[in-house]
Amino acid sequence: MTGAPQDFTSDFSIEQNWPDYTGEEHAIWRLLFERQQRLLVDRACQEFLDGLDALGVAADGIPDFHRLSDLLDAATGWRIVAVPGLVPDDVFFAYLARRRFPSTCFIRRRDQLDYLQEPDVFHDICGHVPLLMNPVFADYMQAYGEGGLKALGLGHLQHLARLYWYTVEFGLIATQQGLRIYGSGILSSAGESVYCLEDPRPNRIRFDLRRVMRTRYRIDDFQQTYFVIDDFQQLFDATRPDFEPMYREIAAQPDIEPDVLIQSDRKFEPSCFPGPADCGQKNGLQLDRSPSLGRKRLEDVRQHHNQ
Ligand code: PHE
Ligand code: FE
Repeated sequence: MTGAPQDFTSDFSIEQNWPDYTGEEHAIWRLLFERQQRLLVDRACQEFLDGLDALGVAADGIPDFHRLSDLLDAATGWRIVAVPGLVPDDVFFAYLARRRFPSTCFIRRRDQLDYLQEPDVFHDICGHVPLLMNPVFADYMQAYGEGGLKALGLGHLQHLARLYWYTVEFGLIATQQGLRIYGSGILSSAGESVYCLEDPRPNRIRFDLRRVMRTRYRIDDFQQTYFVIDDFQQLFDATRPDFEPMYREIAAQPDIEPDVLIQSDRKFEPSCFPGPADCGQKNGLQLDRSPSLGRKRLEDVRQHHNQ
């Protein structure tokens, strides 16, 4: 076991204690990694695949955070900080604002391969960290951390949390090769990796900042709506303005339910989707309805806000 409670410090950081991972823990990583590798090779965006490659994150086992941090630091100035689990919102945002990614160390058990309530090391390292190798995405995450601290002060975390949810966790990106995944919650979920691109049911809407921040989300099932960006620069540029006036504007408007389309929506129209009968049949995959990983953090953000 890594990260015994007595290791806690005031910033919630712990030691990963990489040599202490067991053979079984590395074997679970390998299972998860190999399954996602097959699914993601033509579904994840190139920036993600390049990041994985450059970091040497692979099937051989749970990576050592020190090694990853040195590579990340050299590329974009980010480092990984090991934490025991969810950290308070202010601590989380403060880490991001300082280009530190708080990552869990533990890995799910073998009977939890498809379903886990909280982020684990596979979700954090295989889902989030590779994109931090991309300079534009790396800047977006830092800006999000700064924006989080500001939103906390303004009492608008609920609105900002939706932006994280529909971009960092569940974002899709339109590329020359077609629709691809960049959201970590999808990237670490076998079922949703296929569903988000190939199932005809969910809405796929062109990214619109105000629309995103008005849209509620589900934490207990696949998403009913995905927002599609053109590239990371678009995301960074759209989120650069001061959100304070926008928060007031949005707070005066009704929330939008996760499955609802509104008149101003610009749907992303791929040339075609396979019919429902085809969905999930690729690679012999059975679609599961289990939530992806990493939903808990934002649920907590929302609950915290609603208190
Ligand atoms: N520009 C936002 C603000 O003023 C901060 C932010 C940047 C939020 C990037 C999210 C993402 O609050
Ligand atoms: Fe996450």
